[in-house]
Amino acid sequence: MKKKLVVLTGAGVSVESGVATFRDNNGLWEQYRVEDVASIEGWHRDPALVLDFYNQRRLQLATVKPNAAHFALAELEKDWDVTILTQNVDNLHERAGSTRIFHLHGLLTQVRPENCYNDVDNYSEESVFDIGYDVVNLGDLAPNGAQLRPHIVWFGEAVPYINAAIDHVMDADILLIVGTSLQVYPAAGLINYYQGNRLVLINRDETPYDHRADLVFHESLGDIFSQL
Ligand code: OAD
Repeated sequence: MKKKLVVLTGAGVSVESGVATFRDNNGLWEQYRVEDVASIEGWHRDPALVLDFYNQRRLQLATVKPNAAHFALAELEKDWDVTILTQNVDNLHERAGSTRIFHLHGLLTQVRPENCYNDVDNYSEESVFDIGYDVVNLGDLAPNGAQLRPHIVWFGEAVPYINAAIDHVMDADILLIVGTSLQVYPAAGLINYYQGNRLVLINRDETPYDHRADLVFHESLGDIFSQL
């Protein structure tokens, strides 16, 4: 039986594909106010601005490709039982060939009616629609008549799949954490559920959890994965 490898990924994994991170210099949160584009209050205040922000991200996603890190993680499925827990809202893990992926913060290529909440205990996948790389405008309605909104987890909203993610981390033989600043919860807190002694952390910059890792690499993922 293959050993269980759980991988928690963040924006750093997609940097070398050309997708901006959130907290680095020139990251998205330097250019936009989180509360304007990633909160329910921002959505109620100016839904057109929020739609435009995610339309731009979605259109850009159509132009980028998975990089060495995404492909290396997909390749690991040959030898390991791999589960990807990603905070990323791009679809680059699936495009690289990974088959078991939980999008903890939603997915850019999906939308749902604004009156359907992302309640972790009352989450209905049936209300989520794939729209690929299309734009969504004010007035674009779901079959239930409600305005469509991005299927993205905004600050203060519940995280779908968090309970499944906890179960996977608890069962993991190896926990690999890559390309995340580990500053956003509950995703960062997943580390606390790992019970093994093979926690590997690869991130360009330091994180608050470096001391918890059995192995830490402060390097660029492209450098590490292209050598694997
Ligand atoms: P951050 O932007 O907070 O952190 C990205 C991390 O990637 C940084 O710590 C960098 O050191 C690292 N990094 C950048 N380039 C790298 C490279 N080439 N190789 C290796 N590491 C590199 O992104 P996340 O931790 O993913 O949530 O952010 C978590 C959540 O905060 C996001 O999912 C998003 C955001 O607000 C929502 O929008 C809901």
